[in-house]
Amino acid sequence: MKMQISFKLALSLLKEGKIVALPTETVYGLAGRIDREKTLEKIFRLKKRPLFDPLIVHCFDKRQALEYSKKNFLVEMLFDYFSPGPLTVVVQKNKKVSDLITAGRSTVALRIPQHPLMKKVLKQLPVPLAAPSANLYGQVSPVRASHVLSSFNHKVPVLNGGPCEKGLESTIVYPDLLKKKIFILRPGIITKENIKVFLDECKLNFAVENKNDPFQPGGGGSHYKPKAPLYILETQKNNREIKKFLLKKFPNKNLKNLELGFSPFKTARTLYYKLRQLSNQRENLIFVQKKPQQKGGLWEAIWNRLDKASSGYYKF
Ligand code: TXA
Ligand code: MG
Repeated sequence: MKMQISFKLALSLLKEGKIVALPTETVYGLAGRIDREKTLEKIFRLKKRPLFDPLIVHCFDKRQALEYSKKNFLVEMLFDYFSPGPLTVVVQKNKKVSDLITAGRSTVALRIPQHPLMKKVLKQLPVPLAAPSANLYGQVSPVRASHVLSSFNHKVPVLNGGPCEKGLESTIVYPDLLKKKIFILRPGIITKENIKVFLDECKLNFAVENKNDPFQPGGGGSHYKPKAPLYILETQKNNREIKKFLLKKFPNKNLKNLELGFSPFKTARTLYYKLRQLSNQRENLIFVQKKPQQKGGLWEAIWNRLDKASSGYYKF
């Protein structure tokens, strides 16, 4: 079988319970039906993902999403406001959700994606799709069909939807009705500021807080790792001085500068693509300069990923 497949074939494979990589507006996902235990197990196996790290359930619309969760007015409002789009909401699950998906938790992560091909697939399937990012565990997420093919040695069929428009994973939130807080478990494309505007417009008296879930795998540890080591430099020094500093520490490395640019949207869209490009040779060492103005909004998600991707940090 050719590994870039047509829409029709992708749909029929998914219906049969096979795994297909699909485009979303954030990153490509490794998708399979949520009602087939064997399919779900295979997703973990292919990705080499530990079974304790739960999967996101991708739904066609709010109505379908609510079939898998306990009633929660704030979840409904969040979906009304932000979906379809790059927001994942963690909510108490009901019995229809397998423990494999949630890694035994009582909550499930639900997302209603926006990519037209993904929507078209979901519309024609009887059940939602579980889909983690279509990369090996701990590595950089794919933002092109070719990234998926190289990650899985051309063994997973992929529906090519072109480059991902957003380029960074969805924001994961947990709305806590008792504490009157929306916790951001993973910063992403929907920013804290966006959520504050939502709360304001809906006249909801809730706070928004970052929360690094200690039980969330990848919550603290090494994640989004490019193949070449990445170093973060917090300095006002110029490029030449930075290179001199690094060459003393890493004399045998091929230094590659990851330039972030001014627009966080463009930076997010091109980040994973550039990380893959710059790590195309083992002897490469990627460095990125952290600037004081890269704070707030989408920069939070960008630096969250770069921090997790990095092998070290220097301030001078
Ligand atoms: O943009 C995205 O979210 C992409 C596209 C494909 O939709 N998906 C994605 O999936 O990034 P993945 O599996 O790479 O990351 C999902 C994260 C994991 O860190 C997992 O621990 C967390 O979601 N997660 C899943 N269910 C959860 C739950 N019930 N509570 C807390 N975290 C959960
Ligand atoms: Mg991932």
